[in-house]
Amino acid sequence: MNDHNTTTNHTMTLTNNETGEAFELPVLGGSVGPKVIDVRRLYGDTGYFTYDPGFTSTASCESTITYIDGDEGILLYRGYPIEDLAVHCDHMEVSYLLLFGELPNAEQKAKFEHDITYHTMLHEQVNQFYRGFRRDSHPMAIMCGVVGALSAFYHDSLDINDPWHRTVASYRMIAKIPTIAAHAYKYAIGQPFIYPDNGLKYSENFLHMLFATPAEDYEVSPTLARAMDRILILHADHEQNASTSTVRLAGSSGANPFACIAAGIASLWGPAHGGANEAVLNMLHEIGDKSNITEYVKKAKDPDDPFRLMGFGHRVYKNFDPRARVMQQTCHEVLEELGITDEPLLELAMELEKIAVEDDYFVERKLYPNVDFYSGIIFKAIGIPTTMFTVLFAVARTVGWIAQWNEMVEDPSQKIGRPRQLFTGPPRRDFVTLDKRG
Ligand code: SDX
Repeated sequence: MNDHNTTTNHTMTLTNNETGEAFELPVLGGSVGPKVIDVRRLYGDTGYFTYDPGFTSTASCESTITYIDGDEGILLYRGYPIEDLAVHCDHMEVSYLLLFGELPNAEQKAKFEHDITYHTMLHEQVNQFYRGFRRDSHPMAIMCGVVGALSAFYHDSLDINDPWHRTVASYRMIAKIPTIAAHAYKYAIGQPFIYPDNGLKYSENFLHMLFATPAEDYEVSPTLARAMDRILILHADHEQNASTSTVRLAGSSGANPFACIAAGIASLWGPAHGGANEAVLNMLHEIGDKSNITEYVKKAKDPDDPFRLMGFGHRVYKNFDPRARVMQQTCHEVLEELGITDEPLLELAMELEKIAVEDDYFVERKLYPNVDFYSGIIFKAIGIPTTMFTVLFAVARTVGWIAQWNEMVEDPSQKIGRPRQLFTGPPRRDFVTLDKRG
């Protein structure tokens, strides 16, 4: 798959203190970041499993796509810092980079944009599919359903072993996810669907489908289109997070790409993951005023209180999430461009951040704002309803899921993911007939 996976010249010795047996485990090195102990032969050689619920110390795969240094707050897409990509690129360039490993030249970019643009429309039957949902369905429920149903409509791009099928399915998914998302919003508010306009750029087209109506012309603000593009870039990929791991695991069984992306959407929906951006806005509304911040920070620190500071903390980042910094800057730019000078939620968020990052509880646990802390305020300023926030995250992350799915399918060492367990249930016992049960 790539030549970065190098068996280093040293091993780790595992000694069984019960038997005195020692086992040599090879150490593998990548191009950058922690080395790994190769435990693929561990069970065969020792009869022992490793145990790592939540995969806090487990590398599930080898990848060349995204690198995160959580301690330094570094995020690289194919080696390029997210800060540079967010400022100098648009989402189509970054999508090309994630898919193919290199930034496109002008000709490659133009062709990629053309090919994506000419796949943005949905099969008309898919548009009918929405009719089965209640109007008050959560848009993420609609996204799970519609994306999962795509394999029922696009039969000519389901053979994962055919590179051409994979390319068509990948382009279709990236191209259609904004249309699917915009239709979910329109369906929820009872407005007619707005079809894609091939004369518009990706983010411009998305905003047009969200906010235009057949009743009058709708001009997309270049500022909002730029902000949306930057938000899509910041959310595009993020190593082996929960939803990406879900896509990989679903794909490892040979499931079709549309089903795998639907699985990723389902996983992203959780409030501990992509659902956090919606939860942050709900939390800020619940806190309501700066005078209540102390009380809520206290609740967040109370181990007996399930309340957590949404938008804070991260499994990998033990420093500022670099995306949060860019998001905060974008937040100020968008509000200023829109002439929103006194957004109380932003004031509240900034005060909450100030208090939390100075509080020992958060400092000791290295809990900083993550990508979701400020994104919701920008979405609100753009006019996106709270229930659509995680949908936007899914729109952005689709290219990352697709890139990671392709990498997994093309990996010659790939096999079905099938973790084992530490069993603590009842050992074998004799059956008890109904008449003998107490
Ligand atoms: C995303 O993985 C990714 O890359 C995800 C993502 C991506 O781009 O794909 O970056 C997107 O999901 C960002 C995270 C969005 N989620 C939230 O903002 C929800 C709030 N955050 C927490 O739920 C939590 O921080 C997680 C889920 C993000 C991380 O949880 P971990 O790594 O399992 O950490 P943990 O739960 O073991 O917490 C360690 C300690 C605990 O306290 P102690 O048991 O040590 O006393 O920190 C505490 C936790 O109680 N803690 C928090 C907290 N987050 C962790 N306490 C209060 N508020 C919080 N937000």
